[in-house]
Amino acid sequence: MIKGFIFDLDGVITDTAEQHYVAWKKLSDENGWSFDRELNDKLRGISRLDSIQVILEHNNITLDEDTIGKLANQKNEKYVESLDDVTPEDFLPGAKELLTHLRTEGFHVALGSASKNASKVLQQLNALGYFDVIGDGNSVTESKPNPAIFLHGAEKLGLQPDECIVFEDAESGVDAAKTGGFHSIGIGPKERVGHADLRFDSMADATLFEIKSYFKDLF
Ligand code: G6P
Ligand code: MG
Repeated sequence: MIKGFIFDLDGVITDTAEQHYVAWKKLSDENGWSFDRELNDKLRGISRLDSIQVILEHNNITLDEDTIGKLANQKNEKYVESLDDVTPEDFLPGAKELLTHLRTEGFHVALGSASKNASKVLQQLNALGYFDVIGDGNSVTESKPNPAIFLHGAEKLGLQPDECIVFEDAESGVDAAKTGGFHSIGIGPKERVGHADLRFDSMADATLFEIKSYFKDLF
């Protein structure tokens, strides 16, 4: 029986995936690294430090841990600065409607994001009130595809993984949901999230009616 929902943030609730891209792109340009949207797609869902490792590997660059940490901080400063421009208008189409509907129907709702800036983003969106539990990059140490962040959310909601549906736009996030024993909904192209139980091109298609029709035996 489905009693709860766990949402990724970036690329599901709001399109901060774009702001992450801009910040990484600026850092890459400053350092003469190659970085494009295709590579950015591989960073969806993974932590800041794992992300910079992917970029460095792509550029065949090896740096010491200290330098990597400083560069990751520089990217974060650029990203955090850009969050001041996020407003309550910046929900992805359909996201606010679904969150409201889930509240009305009494489902438990958690955030399961790898971002250490998740609370700031939710604050900017004025979205904190939709969530019973905020799980973010400060809540667990292992990052997706490890299921830790979703297991944390389920535990805080007092639910078993198979009582929850996870929403994800990242390949690594869908992997995490499946490994953790959650039902999963992928948002985005099938090349990226086609391995989720159910997939929508965008949040605008992800209505509670559609979800209940697909997982009908579980409601
Ligand atoms: C999300 C994004 C990733 C990002 C990660 C860490 O999962 O999809 O692209 O790297 O959060 O975000 P942070 O705000 O902590 O750097
Ligand atoms: Mg995401």
